[in-house]
Amino acid sequence: MDVDKLEALIVEHKPKLVYLIPTFSNPSGATLSLARRKRILEMAVRTQTLVVEDDPYGELYFEAPPPPSLLALSNGVPGSRDWLAHCGSFSKILSPGLRVGWMIAPPELLAKAVMCKQFSDAHTSNLTQAICAHYLTMNRLVDTLAVVRQTYAERARVMAQCLQRDLGEAIAFNAPQGGMFFWARLTGADGHSADAAAFAKRAIDQLVAFVPGAPFYAHDPDPATLRLSFATADVAKIEEGIGRLKLALR
Ligand SMILES: Cc1ncc(COP(=O)(O)O)c(C=O)c1O
Repeated sequence: MDVDKLEALIVEHKPKLVYLIPTFSNPSGATLSLARRKRILEMAVRTQTLVVEDDPYGELYFEAPPPPSLLALSNGVPGSRDWLAHCGSFSKILSPGLRVGWMIAPPELLAKAVMCKQFSDAHTSNLTQAICAHYLTMNRLVDTLAVVRQTYAERARVMAQCLQRDLGEAIAFNAPQGGMFFWARLTGADGHSADAAAFAKRAIDQLVAFVPGAPFYAHDPDPATLRLSFATADVAKIEEGIGRLKLALR
């Protein structure tokens, strides 16, 4: 997020809120620096704009932990807690099927959010909430996270290696430091096509699926972009899958 541009856009458009995934973003994998996080909180107070921090991936770091969340930093920026809503989820750290997440927000906003939730589905299942509460009480999340971090780090490492080995110059990417995704770009090198949607169709013929990048853009999509996930396939499948992507290059 370019914070200077963001502030200019806020002044111009006066949006109801700014939505951010500051840590291991979906789809880009990008993480906002500490300095920019602080500036965003200051800007929220200055422009009286609500910032929504969506943070389902922050715990999924591979080596060094990412900078503290906006929520954690808000203690050091007077007034910022009044302009911040922080959302978390068990989906990426325990099980998506539980459908349990949380929001930490100013009381007035929370009251309205609770009302919206009641209108939409009455409430989140008591059973799955109780399962999460019990799991947390057993103190097992810390050990689970250690396993998940190690597993994902290994899968990401293998995916990076295989992409380099099998697709070489045809693809450009930054190896992620956490989260679940590679955000990549077909370069068109060596006469290969740089159309990720067409590439996705040929990949499916090879029984491999990834998400073309264009639908992630609000406007001016880059058709050469794509998002690859390393979350569910094990290392052997990743090796096999990237090898098949090579066959789908054209
Ligand atoms: C940006 C973002 N926020 C939140 C979620 C989690 O959604 P849920 O808690 O509804 O499973 C995801 C999962 O894909 C996501 O990518």
